Amino acid sequence: MRNVDLPAGLGIVGCGNILAAYMTGLARASQLVRVVRFADADSTRAEAASSTYGVGKPGTLPDLLADPEVDVVVNLTPPTVHDEVIRQASAAGRHIFTEKPLSATTLRAGTALEVVARHGISLACAPDTFLGPVHQTSRAVIDGGELGEIIGYTAFSTYRRVEERHPNPGFLFQPGGGPLLDLGPYYIAAFVNLFGPIASVSGRTRIGASVRRVTRPTGMFEIPVSVPTHASATLTHASGVVGTFVASFDIWDPHHLPDFEIYGENGTLESGHPAWYDGDVFVRLHRDDEWRLVPTVLPDIQPGRQRFPLTRGLGVLDLVESLSGRPCRTSSELGLHSLEVLEAIQRASDESRAISISTTLDRPAPLTGADLTRWFG
Ligand SMILES: NC(=O)c1ccc[n+]([C@@H]2O[C@H](COP(=O)([O-])OP(=O)(O)OC[C@H]3O[C@@H](n4cnc5c(N)ncnc54)[C@H](O)[C@@H]3O)[C@@H](O)[C@H]2O)c1
Repeated sequence: MRNVDLPAGLGIVGCGNILAAYMTGLARASQLVRVVRFADADSTRAEAASSTYGVGKPGTLPDLLADPEVDVVVNLTPPTVHDEVIRQASAAGRHIFTEKPLSATTLRAGTALEVVARHGISLACAPDTFLGPVHQTSRAVIDGGELGEIIGYTAFSTYRRVEERHPNPGFLFQPGGGPLLDLGPYYIAAFVNLFGPIASVSGRTRIGASVRRVTRPTGMFEIPVSVPTHASATLTHASGVVGTFVASFDIWDPHHLPDFEIYGENGTLESGHPAWYDGDVFVRLHRDDEWRLVPTVLPDIQPGRQRFPLTRGLGVLDLVESLSGRPCRTSSELGLHSLEVLEAIQRASDESRAISISTTLDRPAPLTGADLTRWFG
């Protein structure tokens, strides 16, 4: 296991759309981490990141791994590349935080995890949004017992017009993408944070349109679709909680669906969007006439409570602190469980049957105000 002195040196591979949000978040924890190097397969992107953030030596992943100042690789490449970066970085003895999903398939994730185990390094996986105030507040309410036994939940993941809103949307319609693997990991992490591991899954998926058309100032592009863009699933947790989860790129128009609602024997909790850190939590017990806003258990993280990911990186900080011995909340076990569940929704549809989930894990520990003060001062 590589020993890491603080602040840990971060090497970021993949200088695309989400990089700026990581840089904003990580800059707030300079006593814990500092970015020492950027790499990208596209040299112009690595150079642009180096010049924007004043960090020298842009290059490729092998260049980054040859730099002794890099303690932790932060993997912001597209999903189909994740496992290759994980394999190379662990062979070079570096700890890794990877964006979600852990890999494009559980099979490929399993092979990468064998390499990780062989080299004795720590691997953590996004998302980290379940560590945000809104999800930690929901957890405090549920663990506090006010709602009584939790019976079930409904959650809708609807990324409207995603191809128009993402600057490089092609990967979202290929294996490793789709609404299940793109936004699904946020939801599964939020579900596991609140209700523990998922034991079985059933569901149906379909492709909405075989081609997506995007209009850009330079012209019109067609994106071929090779993964389902609409999925509807039932998730049964080991605890007995039964969830309804819809993930779709085919809900085009504004709607009135809840992001995430939880039903207990004593009342209902309206939680926040699983892909965002901040938001409001409302509770309504059966005897109440109105919804009650629950005071947040942690201060807000996202400036102005913006929904667009302006800031990311709590999971990187959690990984760096966990190197001293405590369990990492954004663990690769959670990443693998999430990937297995999301893949099982597809298999359940293909095979018209319920699929049992083989991976399991303990719920990640709650995040506290003391953790945030230590990280952000
Ligand atoms: N865009 C978002 O809003 C968002 C939000 C959260 C998480 N994510 C996740 O972050 C990851 C990156 O997403 P993005 O939107 O920034 O994608 P992007 O396509 O904008 O950027 C990916 C970058 O990785 C580089 N790359 C590809 N293959 C590489 C390789 N083999 N070695 C080095 N660099 C390589 C590309 O050149 C590109 O610059 C994905 O896993 C995605 O799921 C994205």
